[in-house]
Amino acid sequence: MLRIAVLPGDGIGNEVIQVGVDVLKALEEVTPGLEIAYEWLDYGAERYLRDGVGFPNDEREAIADRNDAIYLGAVGDPRVPGNEHAREIILETRFNLDLYVNLRPCKLLDARFCPLAGKGVDDVDFTVFRENTEGLYTGIGGIFKKGTADEVAIQSSINTRKGVERIIRTAYRFADEHGHGRVCMSDKSNALRYGHDLWMRVWKEVAAEYPKIESRHLYIDVLTMELVRHPEDFEVIVTSNLFGDIVTDLGAALQGGLGMAASANLNPERGIGMFEPVHGSAPDIAGQGKANPIAAVATTALMLQSLGRPAEARIVEAAVARALAENATTADLGGSSSTSQVRDFLVQTVRELSAGNT
Ligand code: NAD
Ligand code: IPM
Ligand code: MN
Repeated sequence: MLRIAVLPGDGIGNEVIQVGVDVLKALEEVTPGLEIAYEWLDYGAERYLRDGVGFPNDEREAIADRNDAIYLGAVGDPRVPGNEHAREIILETRFNLDLYVNLRPCKLLDARFCPLAGKGVDDVDFTVFRENTEGLYTGIGGIFKKGTADEVAIQSSINTRKGVERIIRTAYRFADEHGHGRVCMSDKSNALRYGHDLWMRVWKEVAAEYPKIESRHLYIDVLTMELVRHPEDFEVIVTSNLFGDIVTDLGAALQGGLGMAASANLNPERGIGMFEPVHGSAPDIAGQGKANPIAAVATTALMLQSLGRPAEARIVEAAVARALAENATTADLGGSSSTSQVRDFLVQTVRELSAGNT
């Protein structure tokens, strides 16, 4: 029995997570021995506005203890302009469960969806390892003389040897295990002379342990340019928290948009991960049946893979591939389907593919 805590969150999070769960339920129906228990979690802007609850630490710990994975939609609501609840739900889950690996695969599934002329599915296929517990995200800092002409705002960037080393090692280990010949570390060590000096030194040490892997360093500004010019040069990228956030939206665009990009927040040493599409709550299209659910569905494949169900993950991926091939897609991909029509297509396809497998 797999146990999944489902946290749809805000806006289109609710729409796309329902599709992901429906796809999982279709898989369960047709896969002997696959049983999933879902614990639906009511955290998000509504709850925060109603009773001031974001995602309390003790509740998170208990949920993590009794589940194998957390499946998150997205959080963010214009009625909570400071994003306080989102910080507790996303960032504090990453920090407090020590999910230090943010794994974001970027794979173009169909050349029609790539905005770059002349690039095909073999050209856009890389995985970003984003450091997920440090950098500029920890919330360390403060504001002095707020609202005055003399106001000072400090946002500290935290870079620890342990934190930098473990994410770089994870990226190299992944490359090694998956037969990838190239790893690129990206930082801004020419300007960030302390924090990213540490990144540079640790990277050189770890890279030296993998002489068969071609190690490359690019400053983050150059990486953004190179990803557009020559995405085919990249297989594994490792970078800091903020830079990883930025380049994975760029990566999403190369895949066909935010509606396509999946991610996993992992701690390889701990038995819990949080799985979420890269996109946000998209208030501009929420509630209109326009949300592309493929990122959320592809995220279930990452989750299944990580929960030791690679065969089922492949069925989900095959269903997604067929939806794209047959234009069962939402408007962001040029299709004319609603979110629930894509859902129906995927559910039906999962049933057919599974039947073909048995
Ligand atoms: P966003 O990702 O929500 O949307 C950016 C653009 O992409 C919008 O035009 C949106 O309509 C489109 N888009 C996103 N996902 C889509 C999908 N599945 N199908 C079709 N179109 C899609 O980013 P934003 O507008 O900057 O942020 C909105 C809110 O979401 C903010 O509160 C932000 O903080 C939050 N956010 C949350 C997460 C998360 O929960 N993981 C991630 C990013 C942003
Ligand atoms: C993401 C999001 C989050 C991040 C926000 C909502 C805090 O953009 O998961 O990519 O920056 O990590
Ligand atoms: Mn982001």
